[in-house]
Amino acid sequence: MMPIEKVNMRDYTSLRIGGVCDMVRVRSLDDLSEVTKFSKNNKTRIFILGHGTNSYFSENINDLLVIKIEIKGIKIIEENNESVIIKAYSGEIWDDVVRYTTEKGWWGIENLSWVPGTCGAGPVQNIGAYGTELSDTLVSVEAYNRESNQIEILNNKACELGYRDSVFKKHNPVGDSGESNKYIILSINIKLSKLYKPTLTYAPLNSLDQSIIYTPKEIRDIVIQTRKSKIPDYNILPNAGSFFKNPIINKDLKERVIAKYPQIPIYENGEGYKIPAAWLIEHISKMKGVRTGDVGTYQMQPLIIINYDRAESREILDFTSRIIDIIKHETGIVLEREVNYVE
Ligand code: EPU
Repeated sequence: MMPIEKVNMRDYTSLRIGGVCDMVRVRSLDDLSEVTKFSKNNKTRIFILGHGTNSYFSENINDLLVIKIEIKGIKIIEENNESVIIKAYSGEIWDDVVRYTTEKGWWGIENLSWVPGTCGAGPVQNIGAYGTELSDTLVSVEAYNRESNQIEILNNKACELGYRDSVFKKHNPVGDSGESNKYIILSINIKLSKLYKPTLTYAPLNSLDQSIIYTPKEIRDIVIQTRKSKIPDYNILPNAGSFFKNPIINKDLKERVIAKYPQIPIYENGEGYKIPAAWLIEHISKMKGVRTGDVGTYQMQPLIIINYDRAESREILDFTSRIIDIIKHETGIVLEREVNYVE
């Protein structure tokens, strides 16, 4: 069995919140079956960690084994004149893969530049930005099924990808006992285009001159610039990106909300009506740029919660509950947290 380290989860989360936990690093499939066997035999609760950019931990955990996935590698699986399928192992940093593919001149994931985290975490919440989602290019996911001890290939459809949602989330309810962690993602296959195929529908990409031919690298650079202007560097201001999902509401609620707030922005999507959580936080809860103790919303983009110094998990929960309560009371809309809380 690989060594179990005692680590402080503050040092392994971009929000820098948590206490001391047991951690093992998994670098191969053999490591993974070994630690899985160990956790089953000892009935140990587990949590699968990628790069820690979408999770924070309670300071008082004493029965959890954090499994940090460090399985690396990128390879070309299939290639022709028009497209290429690459396999990226789950411990690869997602943005390293985007850099690699955009430098090759391949289209498909350039709008997902600078999204933090690992490749293994990508399908779990179907990472999305600037009008594209991982579901647009994901061919399949190779995952270790802890119940059967077999490796399974789940195609795009079997992953049940939705807005920040997937089958992996359903099987890994946060805070549940480790037994329900059915799948551990080993690698992802994504299909990219060698033909010109930008997605320039979402601001600010929609204001680009469409008569010009861009390279994936140029789009990547614009996306990175935009993200950097809205999302602070977590090494300077610890954060976990968007803290809430943008709520999707039904027609009834939409009509009631419009009657009260005619200026509310609404985007129709397949599932219902999507409301920007950032707008609700700014205009309904009036908590844009507000700070209580060491927790606050970012002045430029209030969907981002910042740990200004030594915030504890309880303060994050209280602060974000305040936002949820005000918005629910005023509009009936219930914001859902997007960042995992592990206790
Ligand atoms: N808005 C405000 N006040 C603000 C900022 C935004 O009212 O201070 C409103 C505006 O109406 C604006 C709308 O919110 O048009 C949308 O803002 P933005 O384009 O910045 O995107 P977002 O909906 O807040 C989502 C993703 C981001 C992703 C961006 C760009 C979610 C939860 N978040 O944010 O993803 O980068 O779109 O595509 O869907 C993440 O998941 O961690 C993340 C950063």
